[in-house]
Amino acid sequence: MASSCSRTCLQYLLHLAHDNLDFRLPEIKALLALRAKPFLPCENFNEQSPFWCLNSLTEEDVRSVMARSVCAKSAFELWGRGRTHSELRTSLLNYSPEKMSPYVHKESTYRINVYTFNKTLLFADRIKKIDALEYLPFEGTVSLKSPQHIFCLLEDYGTDPNNIPEHPNYVYFGRWIADGQRELIRSHSVKSRHFIGNTSMDAGLSFIMTNHAKVKENDLVFDPFVGTGSLLVACSHFGAYVCGTDIDYNTIHGKGRSSRKNQKWRGPDENIRANLRQYGTQKMYVDVMVSDASKPVWRNAALFDAIITDPPYGIRESTRKTGSHKDIAKAPDGSYADSHVPVSQAYNLSDIFADLLHFSAQHLVVGGRLVYWLPVYRPEYCEEMIPHHACLQLVSNCEQTLSSHTSRRLITMEKIKEPKELDGLAGAPDPRCSPYHGHNAFREKYFSGLNKRSSKEDTRADVDGK
Ligand SMILES: C[S@@+](CC[C@H](N)C(=O)[O-])C[C@H]1O[C@@H](n2cnc3c(N)ncnc32)[C@H](O)[C@@H]1O
Repeated sequence: MASSCSRTCLQYLLHLAHDNLDFRLPEIKALLALRAKPFLPCENFNEQSPFWCLNSLTEEDVRSVMARSVCAKSAFELWGRGRTHSELRTSLLNYSPEKMSPYVHKESTYRINVYTFNKTLLFADRIKKIDALEYLPFEGTVSLKSPQHIFCLLEDYGTDPNNIPEHPNYVYFGRWIADGQRELIRSHSVKSRHFIGNTSMDAGLSFIMTNHAKVKENDLVFDPFVGTGSLLVACSHFGAYVCGTDIDYNTIHGKGRSSRKNQKWRGPDENIRANLRQYGTQKMYVDVMVSDASKPVWRNAALFDAIITDPPYGIRESTRKTGSHKDIAKAPDGSYADSHVPVSQAYNLSDIFADLLHFSAQHLVVGGRLVYWLPVYRPEYCEEMIPHHACLQLVSNCEQTLSSHTSRRLITMEKIKEPKELDGLAGAPDPRCSPYHGHNAFREKYFSGLNKRSSKEDTRADVDGK
């Protein structure tokens, strides 16, 4: 393996999108891990840069990462780089002629693009930059419309739009290999989705979650707080079988009030299955059912390859579970009277996360991943607040800022062993460190100064029939 890599491994340049900065590294690492490849950046790696140079990969590795990534825009086989055009020239002239020859010979057709980050160049300046590369040994014919090979000169003018340098900070030249999957953000936008709700997860983030979870073809993925199934849509796109549960009957059955402007009630076919059908992945749909995530309804086995979810924080949806603080008369066999109407009570955030980790430890396969969002009150955030479990290892923890004082963190954990009886308890977070403990302190802080009335309304104790 090592020797075949030393023959075929080259340096590759990834051009990354400059949004969702925190999510990029775990995404690329997870996609490389799917090919059992480590993330080996070149020296002076800067995570914030739009350009990452990676070692010890093959073209196949890079193509498979780009077939999944929504954080990476394009990938190039790197032929040369430098802090100036003169350094680039030296670097390119030192690049192996054997490695260049399949792409520069007489019969080949090619095109050279110029890409600048944080600066717009005039057309004439771009042409000048291409002309200045005349020292490269291209013998083929230029074809602007349908070239066999595309090359790119990439210039990095830093990340500060208020301080754009005259000359680039760094320049690269390489052979284009593939583009990433940014197009999925548009094609799967919730704006044009058949069935949506108030909390439907954004398409880009859904694909990022799927990638962090290392979802692959024929996996079985579960979302315990499935809502309108946005995460199932993303997982099914990458070939996974999907299923989910939600406590809300109307959501699961696609009934009730519509979340769309100008539409009062949901239409006859507004449901999760129809969403998958819209994107041509209906065959990956296993099922969804009405169920309370706080209750054990699954047989005791490692059933899922990944659990990906967006639990309710009580911000735009209620956090409730079945049951009551009050004593409700039950028959001796544990069943309720016929006249019984299920009641619900507040589902505290601390319990939601403890239950989710416990459930994942029980029902993930070893090596399977749990990916979920954790709401955070930023002034008080510290890493000890991340819920933990003895069977789940923290893989990544990425912040998405929501306001000056709130954010949510995308947590990825991997199951490392099967649970023993005491594992759940041993992993319980110290209540003093947990803002999610006891009553819903987080929600009160989130709403403080924002919307005190709706916070109070949502924290009422028992609500019959909801
Ligand atoms: C943030 S939303 C999920 C949105 C979903 N990712 C989507 O794209 O539509 C949380 C969901 O959890 C559900 N929920 C709340 N409490 C629950 C419980 N105890 N068990 C299962 N689902 C619950 C809510 O009905 C809501 O649909």
